[in-house]
Amino acid sequence: MHRFRQLLNRRLLQQSQCSLPSQCSGLCFPLQQWLPLQRDLSISCPSLYSSNFNSGSGGNRPGGGGDGSNNDGDGRSQGPSAAYNTISDILNVTTKTREEDSWVDKRASNDLSNIDETEDNEKKLSESIDPRPVLNYASGPGGTTKSGVIMGIETSCDDTGVAVVNTEKQILGEALNSQLQIHLNHGGIIPPVAKHLHEQHITRIIKEAMTEAKVTVKDLDAIATTVKPGLSLSLLVGLKHGKQLCVEGNKPFIPIHHMKAHALTCRMLQDIQFPYLVLLISGGHCLLALAKSIDDFEILGTTIDDAPGEAFDKTARRLKLYNLPEGSSLPGGAAIEYYARRGNPEGFKFPTPMYKYRDCNWSFAGLKFIALRHILREERAHGCDGPDVIPTHADVCASFQYAVVAHLCKKIQRGMIYADMKHLIPDNNRVLVVSGGVACNESVKKGLDLVCQEMNYKLICPEKKLCTDNGVMIAWNGVEKYQAGIDLIPPSDLDSIDIEPKSAMGISLHEEIRQMNIKCKRIKMLHLFQPEIPKVASTGTVG
Ligand code: KG4
Ligand code: ZN
Repeated sequence: MHRFRQLLNRRLLQQSQCSLPSQCSGLCFPLQQWLPLQRDLSISCPSLYSSNFNSGSGGNRPGGGGDGSNNDGDGRSQGPSAAYNTISDILNVTTKTREEDSWVDKRASNDLSNIDETEDNEKKLSESIDPRPVLNYASGPGGTTKSGVIMGIETSCDDTGVAVVNTEKQILGEALNSQLQIHLNHGGIIPPVAKHLHEQHITRIIKEAMTEAKVTVKDLDAIATTVKPGLSLSLLVGLKHGKQLCVEGNKPFIPIHHMKAHALTCRMLQDIQFPYLVLLISGGHCLLALAKSIDDFEILGTTIDDAPGEAFDKTARRLKLYNLPEGSSLPGGAAIEYYARRGNPEGFKFPTPMYKYRDCNWSFAGLKFIALRHILREERAHGCDGPDVIPTHADVCASFQYAVVAHLCKKIQRGMIYADMKHLIPDNNRVLVVSGGVACNESVKKGLDLVCQEMNYKLICPEKKLCTDNGVMIAWNGVEKYQAGIDLIPPSDLDSIDIEPKSAMGISLHEEIRQMNIKCKRIKMLHLFQPEIPKVASTGTVG
């Protein structure tokens, strides 16, 4: 049966030109649920579901068509930018436009990042992987005493963040420009728009951080900048400005890996020693890693399709939560969390994804897909049209959130058991660090905390503003690298530095974990999800 499922799914994937064939072979959810869904929604693969969803599902964005065709002719949705001619058209878009928008995919948006990049540049990007010249300005690897002041620049996605942090773990100055509301207004991140906004604000943000820190470029010891992974157009803005400052002040440049920076921020806040476990959950990532040193990570698990934030965002959008007063200015995940407080976590049934796979990988596309099915049924049942929000939205939010958290927790539990079996974490350092935008979610934290209690771990989560993208985490990673003498690039070698839109954080332990076939005892957590606030049925819309 398993082999049959794989063959059939492979066939389906070939037919649909799925971009993730190796990841979708029946992993997401059982076939018996899968086939009716296909008929129901004319969609052939959960991974395509995110990118082809506009057209295949009756998505209500004009231009999406009802025939599964897309404007770019390659089987992928173009995202909302298709409806606009210039960036200023997009920036002028009103909240109302979101009613016309559908389930825009970050990956689909990522595809747009290449639209003004030449083939040569693409080639250059793919060839730009190390080696790079490394200069030991500090006391060499392992050196930890050299004091200094480091600036960090973050532009990997949709936040322009700059901070100045010193080796005494003090944040001397910080500034952030969030693009959230603009991207919310048209239903997803459009890379050229993100780039434009970074360019518009970065000089001001650098100036603000330096003014608050009371430093000039000559007072800095190095400039750390995110160069990987991320949206290429966004990364290039930070890179350009980071390099300019290095040349101006004759300072070393420190290239930063965005995910590693997320994973290490907690060391600025508390005395956390290596090795420790870290969970990174955001709109673009989901991974459980073993942090062994500043630059050495091993990956226990990752998502095979959507990141949890991506699944939250798309479900929120499909629920049209932006048409409700409180949902109109919140990121998708935060909107789901808000309404989930009023909902019944057992109101709608969600299957457990990948329950037969005893590894630490996740799949969130299937949950998002089931959410869609529930929403469509409810819309039909309640005659909801256009901007109307289904009256049962709180129950969908609560049930979906519960399913996401339970799935996250299960795989982390297995990761902890694996770490025990392999003696990866010393008894006195049983720490799980969690960061990324989704770590702002209180229910996620409650679920993780329960797993930590069961497994005798301590959960550590930075405050919200340090969980989401920011300049402090980049500056802090710069501090750690500066002190260890890692990756200090002299101004004369700046040409050797380029961005890497895709970049693994470390080697994968997936195969080894899978082969160990680790069984986990069930941790019940439904009681954590009971409604906190009496339900108020709302079908109202903003304005
Ligand atoms: O780390 P982040 O700021 O940016 C990257 O994706 O790298 O994370 C943004 C993601 C979005 O998907 C957003 O919906 C999600 O974090 N998020 C939340 C919450 N607040 C933000 N997800 C669940 N619950 C929240 N309270
Ligand atoms: Zn991030």
